[in-house]
Amino acid sequence: MKTLTTVYALRRAIAGNRTQGQRVCFVPTMGNLHEGHLTLVREAKRRGECVVVSIFVNPMQFGANEDLDSYPRTLAADKEKLFGEGTTYLFAPTVSEMYPNGTGPQSQLSVPEVTETLCGASRPGHFTGVSTVVSKLFNIVQPDIAFFGKKDFQQLQVIRKMVDDMCMPVEIVGVDTSRAEDGLALSSRNGFLSEQERKVAPRLHQILQEYRDAIANGFDNYKELEHHAQNDLKNAGFSPDYFTICDAETLHDVTEDTDEIVILAAAKLGTPRLIDNVTLTLA
Ligand code: PAJ
Repeated sequence: MKTLTTVYALRRAIAGNRTQGQRVCFVPTMGNLHEGHLTLVREAKRRGECVVVSIFVNPMQFGANEDLDSYPRTLAADKEKLFGEGTTYLFAPTVSEMYPNGTGPQSQLSVPEVTETLCGASRPGHFTGVSTVVSKLFNIVQPDIAFFGKKDFQQLQVIRKMVDDMCMPVEIVGVDTSRAEDGLALSSRNGFLSEQERKVAPRLHQILQEYRDAIANGFDNYKELEHHAQNDLKNAGFSPDYFTICDAETLHDVTEDTDEIVILAAAKLGTPRLIDNVTLTLA
């Protein structure tokens, strides 16, 4: 595995693989890698010969009061994990390499509509930061296939919409959420949970599953279910941000045309904000 820190060096390296006819598979990350990230890397390895992973904590997607400074940076340990997975190139640029003119005014790519609700509503500007950096990374790497986790369900939909709208020549693959044995979705932010909070945290997934079962059993008063679920979260010790039942494709209300429902939740438990979701295919 080669670690490269400049756009120029990465492009030169990948060009060599491409002339050998290799398929370029790309996994963008912000580092502090766990099994969830590594399942994406394994899927990439399965689908192509040249696997590129980026580690870049993107300032543009963090709000002023968010955890940019405290976001865990663990490059040495991350490198070992990626080496073990047979990664071809690690791209680990500095902020000034990615944003030579500073993170202030610059061209931005935003994806309206799908970013208006859920995390887009509670984290203004977040998804513009995500879509801008991912489009930059796509231009740098020019991957054939790129891999994103379904844990960040809205992010995956934003990327799919961006690629579609902008005719980007890349296939997007969504990868299932990796969970701890007790069901908690793996996340870099889980490390900030106290011992007691860590015991409570799996309730988020359990509550999502309970409501999925209720819908599967025929309950279709979604607003009432959402209201009850928020209370369940509060009773378990969470401060819910949202608990929303919606159409998995549009992220808007469920309609007669809905084929798949997604239930998405975001809730604070102590300091960290946890997100998770479950889906249900309608017959
Ligand atoms: P990050 O949070 O590091 O996540 C990188 C990728 O790993 C994302 O596609 C995310 O959905 C996936 N991932 C995280 N936890 C997962 C889990 N438990 N199971 C499966 N996949 C999981 O998401 C970002 O970084 C950034 O927003 C990024 C796309 C890199 C843009 O900066």
